[in-house]
Amino acid sequence: MDLVMPYPDATQVDATPAMVAQGWNSTRMFQESDRFFTSMGLLPMPQEFWDKSMLEKPSDGRQVVCHASAWDFYNRKDFRIKQCTVVTMDDLITVHHEMGHVQYFLQYKDQPVSFRDGANPGFHEAIGDVLALSVSTPKHLQSIGLLDKVESNHGT
Ligand SMILES: *[C@@H]1O[C@H](CO)[C@@H](O)[C@H](O)[C@H]1NC(C)=O
Ligand SMILES: [Zn+2]
Repeated sequence: MDLVMPYPDATQVDATPAMVAQGWNSTRMFQESDRFFTSMGLLPMPQEFWDKSMLEKPSDGRQVVCHASAWDFYNRKDFRIKQCTVVTMDDLITVHHEMGHVQYFLQYKDQPVSFRDGANPGFHEAIGDVLALSVSTPKHLQSIGLLDKVESNHGT
């Protein structure tokens, strides 16, 4: 990172304090992500996704692997995310990343099973991250009420 950081003096945007101050929770983070995907004409998360995903760390003592992951149950209707979501901007990006996997699952769900996979694992990893790049821009964060003012970084 020290060697490749492109603009070390650029303003770092952190939407976490605003998310916390506005009482965002994990559901809200997934709803905002779903809204962003559908605003570009992509598919909404189906009802089963909302009913069966694990969006928070269980508080009943169950032990879970907290590393975020997305799951295709290969029955064309059951798709889930498991994430111990914390209300931070980092996790908001992770939500988009995981939802990118589910978006890909949804887009190829009617293909024969042997075609229900990414053309390359890198494509799978990239779908949500492409959206997350736009979500992290000051302009978009301001549009969803997470940033007061947009400072542009003019080169010097
Ligand atoms: C989480 O936020 C959503 C949307 O703002 C709200 O409808 C819901 O009641 C909240 N859930 C909890 C457990 O606070
Ligand atoms: Zn991934």
